[in-house]
Amino acid sequence: SNEPLVLGIETSCDETGVGIVRGHTLLVDEVASSVEEHARFGGVVPEVASRAHLEAMVPTIDRACEKAGISLNDIDAVAVTAGPGLAGALLVGVASAKALALGLGKPIYGVNHLAAHVAVDQLQHGPLPEPCIAMLVSGGHSSLLKVSDITVGVDPMGATIDDAAGEAFDKVARLLGLPFPGGPHIDRTAVSGNSVAIDFPRGLTAKRDLERHRFDFSFSGLKTAVARWVEARERSGEPVPVADVAASFQEAVCDVLVRKALDAARSEGIEDILIGGGVAANSRLRAMAEARAADLGIRVRVPRPGLCTDNGAMVAALGAEMVARGRTPSALDLPADSSQPV
Ligand code: KG4
Ligand code: ZN
Repeated sequence: SNEPLVLGIETSCDETGVGIVRGHTLLVDEVASSVEEHARFGGVVPEVASRAHLEAMVPTIDRACEKAGISLNDIDAVAVTAGPGLAGALLVGVASAKALALGLGKPIYGVNHLAAHVAVDQLQHGPLPEPCIAMLVSGGHSSLLKVSDITVGVDPMGATIDDAAGEAFDKVARLLGLPFPGGPHIDRTAVSGNSVAIDFPRGLTAKRDLERHRFDFSFSGLKTAVARWVEARERSGEPVPVADVAASFQEAVCDVLVRKALDAARSEGIEDILIGGGVAANSRLRAMAEARAADLGIRVRVPRPGLCTDNGAMVAALGAEMVARGRTPSALDLPADSSQPV
């Protein structure tokens, strides 16, 4: 095949990801996570993440090549997440990618983490619809983006003004006594709950908020509302209906996310929405987005859960697209840029 063979490295948070793709075809996606080392702190600890990346990097690259049945020399280009993310964590990936590119004499492409979350979808569903609206919801980000050409970048339309959606899931899970990371546990617990049992607030959807924050999100008020509701229950001595709280909370988050994504699409006259990031694995979010979009003639793409969370394949996918579209590689002094826009 003459499609580019690209190795992608992702280290922006707590997953050491190494993916290998050929064009739009995923060959291997290896992820070593330090999530368990962070669990007892209830969140990602930057220093712990950097050290874990350093330890996992070479073995993860070796495993990826072995599973893909390739030798490093076969690779046409190296792609790496340059930002945004944790500075020390990014630095491990960028330094590793530079060493590989230099040693192999192959080009390096520094890519934006959020753009990579979008590009990964073509490994499952084929060429990206451009333009499209991308909604990225994870533990670290909650953004609405307009994508015209994924290899050029993503245009932010809105973002969270406080907690990320995944952070809200994690905090509410913690207060319901569910383990970290809490999103998947809320998702599972909510199945047996009543989503209209409690009317939790929908952040930034009131008319006065829409003027300034039409495409922004806010989840901290929702989290506080859930905390107050649970405390009141506990004070009254009655048992907390965990499944109902989980389902009602999840409904409030998904309602706001879907409403704003559809509004963004309609405002731009765009008919394709892509949802990515860890929270895109949420079963209610997927079902609600598909149902409401169908009513408006809008198509929704959601990569399978394994591609939604941070991984190396998404970086490789974007790198391969940059090669395919003839983009100029990055310079070898490419910086790790933790505060890269969006
Ligand atoms: O993309 P990701 O793996 O890492 C970053 O934060 O970048 O996202 C992790 C987040 C966590 O907050 C986790 O609780 C959430 O995604 N998550 C979910 C589900 N699966 C993962 N949230 C809701 N429902 C899920 N099924
Ligand atoms: Zn991410």
